[in-house]
Amino acid sequence: MVNKLLKILLVEDSDDDAKLLSREIQRAGYLVEYERVETEISMRSALERQAWDLVICDYSMPKFDAPRALSVLQAGGYDLPFIIVSGTIGEETAVEALIAGAHDFVIKGSLARLIPAVQRELKEAEIRRRQRDADEALRESNARFHGLFEYIPVSIWEEDFSHVKSYLDNLAIENGSIDLERYFSDHPQALVECMSLVKIIDVNQSSLRLLGAKNKDELLTSLESTFEAETTKSFIQELLLAISKGLQQLDADVVVKTLDGRRLDAKLSWAVAPGHEKTFSRVLVSLVDITDRKQRERELEAIASLSKVLRTGKSLKELLNRLLDESINLIKADAGSIWLYSPATDLINLETHRNWETGKKTSVRRGEGIAGLVLQNGKFMITREFQTDASLAKDDRDILPQGIGGACIPLHDAENIVGVMFINIRLPRELTTDEVHILNALAEIGGNAIHRMRLLEQSIKQIDRLSSLRTIDLAISNSLDMRIALNTVLEQVVSQLEVDAASVLLMHADTNRLEYAAGRGFRTRAITSTSLRLGEGLAGQAVLEKKIVHAKDLKEDSVEFSRRDLLSDEEFVTYFGVPLTAKGEVKGILEIFNRSPLHVDMDWLDFLDSLSWQTAIAIDNALLFEKIQRSNFDLEMAYNATIEGWSHALDLRDKETEGHTQRVTEATIKLARLMGIADSQIVHMRRGSLLHDIGKMGVPDDILLKPGPLTGDEWEIMQRHPQLAYDLLSPIPYLQPALDIPFCHHEKWDGTGYPRGLKGEQIPLAARIFAIADVWDALTSDRPYRQAWPHLKAIDYIHENSGMHFDPQIVGIFLNEIIKPGESE
Ligand code: C2E
Ligand code: SIN
Ligand code: SIN
Ligand code: FE
Ligand code: FE
Repeated sequence: MVNKLLKILLVEDSDDDAKLLSREIQRAGYLVEYERVETEISMRSALERQAWDLVICDYSMPKFDAPRALSVLQAGGYDLPFIIVSGTIGEETAVEALIAGAHDFVIKGSLARLIPAVQRELKEAEIRRRQRDADEALRESNARFHGLFEYIPVSIWEEDFSHVKSYLDNLAIENGSIDLERYFSDHPQALVECMSLVKIIDVNQSSLRLLGAKNKDELLTSLESTFEAETTKSFIQELLLAISKGLQQLDADVVVKTLDGRRLDAKLSWAVAPGHEKTFSRVLVSLVDITDRKQRERELEAIASLSKVLRTGKSLKELLNRLLDESINLIKADAGSIWLYSPATDLINLETHRNWETGKKTSVRRGEGIAGLVLQNGKFMITREFQTDASLAKDDRDILPQGIGGACIPLHDAENIVGVMFINIRLPRELTTDEVHILNALAEIGGNAIHRMRLLEQSIKQIDRLSSLRTIDLAISNSLDMRIALNTVLEQVVSQLEVDAASVLLMHADTNRLEYAAGRGFRTRAITSTSLRLGEGLAGQAVLEKKIVHAKDLKEDSVEFSRRDLLSDEEFVTYFGVPLTAKGEVKGILEIFNRSPLHVDMDWLDFLDSLSWQTAIAIDNALLFEKIQRSNFDLEMAYNATIEGWSHALDLRDKETEGHTQRVTEATIKLARLMGIADSQIVHMRRGSLLHDIGKMGVPDDILLKPGPLTGDEWEIMQRHPQLAYDLLSPIPYLQPALDIPFCHHEKWDGTGYPRGLKGEQIPLAARIFAIADVWDALTSDRPYRQAWPHLKAIDYIHENSGMHFDPQIVGIFLNEIIKPGESE
């Protein structure tokens, strides 16, 4: 064992006693250095001069005593083991000394107790010294922490949560293990009550800066009010739940409104300080500004969302709405609008808007207003307040509400400015450069998207329009009914031109009026009673002047809209009247109605032109077809009656031939069918057969009804009857295809017939067929000039004349199929 050095201050009047004590302690194995003092002054100077391990003090000395020595030690702040060694000390005195702070006492007569006392006290002193060092270290670290707390560049504050903790503990005790979430939703007041128990102890310098407070007092009293109510409430609820589950740490994203009016996104960290886990009496809360990060996140989200619309969006309209919504949401603007430039009309038109109350205009010219300026020079413009902005025309300013400002950002694709976007905010807020930067980014994405979407919509429209024209084409060529054709056209007009309603009025030449013919998209039936004089109203003007009439606002009194009252329930705003011209004649008018202002472009007008052209053709075709159908019907009626009448009249004149026409006609048709002639031709053969001897109407009775043979002159007159039939029937177009039989039924196969002496197949087939039936019936009938021949004689005659009078092929069929030899008499 290494001897330990002990420096002992001996407060003792006797030098011998001092040596004795020293030796005693040395015997226990210590190296001893000691100094003997016997007055207050010398004790003080000894204490000041050097450090001591131990004080051993006699109780009473001539000039000093132990109680006074103890107070010297204590007054000097020395924490040294103080052991009293005395020859005469009463029980009472000893206790007093111990109470006063002495560590032990030993009677001089029993020094054996001294060593253990010394050893024990040295150990105790060491413990006290260590504690002191530890305390000192703690004090130092606290001081260091405080510096950290105060000046670390993170907003931190200390809170006392002990009352909240007790509140929650009591709740749990009173109500058993409770569902806190339900408890707070049932008792919303409890949440408020609970949070009022939080005591803010201290805030650091960074908090002052972050939260815009002038000094600690201001922040200590208003810290809670800087948290946005909505996010705070949900954070507090979450926090209390976490605490009730035994958690001591929680992070959350919150929104902060600083005392100087800024709005921040922040990450809040709440943690119970180490050593305070039981009571929650010290909680450290830190707040980090993550506004920039959040902003970037939102930007990325907005861009991703826009890109998605770009990929999946169905229409330009959808795209514009999305662009505007994203832009407004992203910077929490109050209103906004998107205007697109239309090259066809050279106007900038309002396409979509949100809370837009800045004026009634829906289109402006280039260079006009903010929109017009931005579109022209392609630079964004920030306006603190529209009403007081000198760059706006006075007229424009006056219609804008007070206190509204914002930005107007150009939307452009790679080459052109396609439009502008307004983002409006209310004063006193003004857009920051960051916000404008984001809006520009969105506008850039949006501009390109608009460009692409327009191209896409254009090609879709082209395809739609092509197929629409095809539909109309089909309707025109297939439909026998004007109504179907017009309805098809109007359906395409309404859907392809994207208008509310359309109608066709037809020009009635007899009355010179435009009358309703067809309509689509009307709410009422009022339009159907339209009947306009030429020149009357918009439609009448369009037809009279043969040009398109356009009315932007039918409600304006200056517009000569003659059907304003008639169509008042329709609430139309825009009107187009397009004259329908075919073959140089106006057939009617195509009318287009829209219940809101219509912004049209070149494409739209082109397509309107195509549609109206198609409509005119549809009408023309339908009119023509109706005419033919009507004349067909009329003629059929007329000619059937005529034919019947004529043949009947003929039969009446020539009593002997009664029934001849019918029989010959039936036989001819039968023979024609056997020869495979089409029904469409047989119709004409039938008419021709019925009228074959119509020319005999011009043969005088004395010749026609002559009982005997004809003279040369008579025969010449008789032979005129085919030519006469031709002259009689040829002016009737309907009977043109039936002329072959009346004109050629007396031609002969060998070319010896009349009136033209045709030969072989020069003779129309119908006439070749008919001739056989005619001669057969003539021979087998009584004639004024002779009796009927027997069948066999007639058969022989036909047979003999095959290849001379008759076509041999037809004779074969006639004799084999019509006149069956076994049946004949
Ligand atoms: P239809 O009486 O209807 O006779 C039509 C055709 O049948 C005749 O044309 C002729 O090719 C043939 N046919 C009729 N009867 C006889 C006949 O007795 N002998 C012969 N070989 N053929 C006969 P066609 O000859 O050109 O005569 C045309 C029409 O002229 C006759 O029509 C009839 O109306 C009239 N016709 C012809 N011959 C006489 C006649 O001798 N006296 C009178 N009154 N009329 C005659
Ligand atoms: C308006 O014309 O009403 C607003 C658009 C602009 O200021 O250019
Ligand atoms: C058609 O295709 O001809 C009929 C169309 C229609 O009824 O609108
Ligand atoms: Fe004849
Ligand atoms: Fe005949």
